[in-house]
Amino acid sequence: MSFKTKHLFPQSGGIETAAQLLARGLLVSFPTETVYGLGADARDGRAVAAIFAAKGRPSFNPLIVHLADAGSARRYVHWSDTAEILASAFWPGPLTLVLPLKDGHGLSSLVTAGLDTVALRVPAHATAQALLQAFGGPVAAPSANPSGKISATLVSHVLAGLDGRIAAVLDDGPCPVGLESTIVGLNGPDAVLLRAGGLPKEAIEAALGHPVTEASGAEIIAPGQLSSHYAPGASVRLNALTAQNDEVMLGFGTIEGDLNLSPSGDLAEAAANLFDHLHRLDATGRPIAVAPVPNTGLGRAINDRLQRAAAPR
Ligand code: TXA
Ligand code: MG
Repeated sequence: MSFKTKHLFPQSGGIETAAQLLARGLLVSFPTETVYGLGADARDGRAVAAIFAAKGRPSFNPLIVHLADAGSARRYVHWSDTAEILASAFWPGPLTLVLPLKDGHGLSSLVTAGLDTVALRVPAHATAQALLQAFGGPVAAPSANPSGKISATLVSHVLAGLDGRIAAVLDDGPCPVGLESTIVGLNGPDAVLLRAGGLPKEAIEAALGHPVTEASGAEIIAPGQLSSHYAPGASVRLNALTAQNDEVMLGFGTIEGDLNLSPSGDLAEAAANLFDHLHRLDATGRPIAVAPVPNTGLGRAINDRLQRAAAPR
């Protein structure tokens, strides 16, 4: 289906319009604190199928369901003590919890790709919150980018990939965190880190009072873990100290470049800039060299995305 994608703003009735479009089974991109999401009513199989079509996403890759508050999570999943600890510490916020589905959950089976678990998240962004409350139901939303490409942290990124393929985009400027949510699996005996993201692992371990294990590559649980993902069109070379040949350079700290993730070496600033800088360097059509980024705190998720961007494809 092709659309004239509406450009909506929260200040001028955009939230109500967006909620009405979702209720009609249409796709709306909306801002969260992490990245822009591509939302649909998670109970409506046709609407969810349209997400997969618009993104060109493989249907074995399940979606995150966004809720207005932690209380509504219990309608869909078997809650646990660990879920309670993490939800009370970090929701609303950039954390997604994978939990066992309850019978009669009412979510489309496409959302979960037929698994007996579902990924849930309560976003903190004021516009996302207002939309979830106005809509009054669960919203399935992957990142608002064509499958395998760089995530969107600005409406211009969303439109570059999805203009004409979705009903509307709700514009609230740049996403403050800039990296997708951290995903924690709570469907086994121990909490497992499935995807590094906008909430540092250190914060999760502090809340739980013990280390969390990272998913081994063996099971593909979060296809964001597929090695080539978040890929720009051009090739990417990591740990570069200077550009070579016709490369454009993405700097960090004192290692300068055509763009710098954070001249002061601040990882939160680097996370917020990462996808926009990759989009802009990618638009030059030249290969990209990237300065080293320390692998602690948010740096872990930044390096995870950079490694996937650099992976052979
Ligand atoms: O910050 C975010 O998480 C953004 C915003 C829009 O909320 N969303 C996002 O969605 O990054 P997406 O679809 O790009 O990534 C969701 C990841 C995928 O890697 C998917 O495989 C994983 O979550 N996932 C979803 N359901 C799962 C489940 N039941 N078990 C394990 N992984 C799951
Ligand atoms: Mg994604």
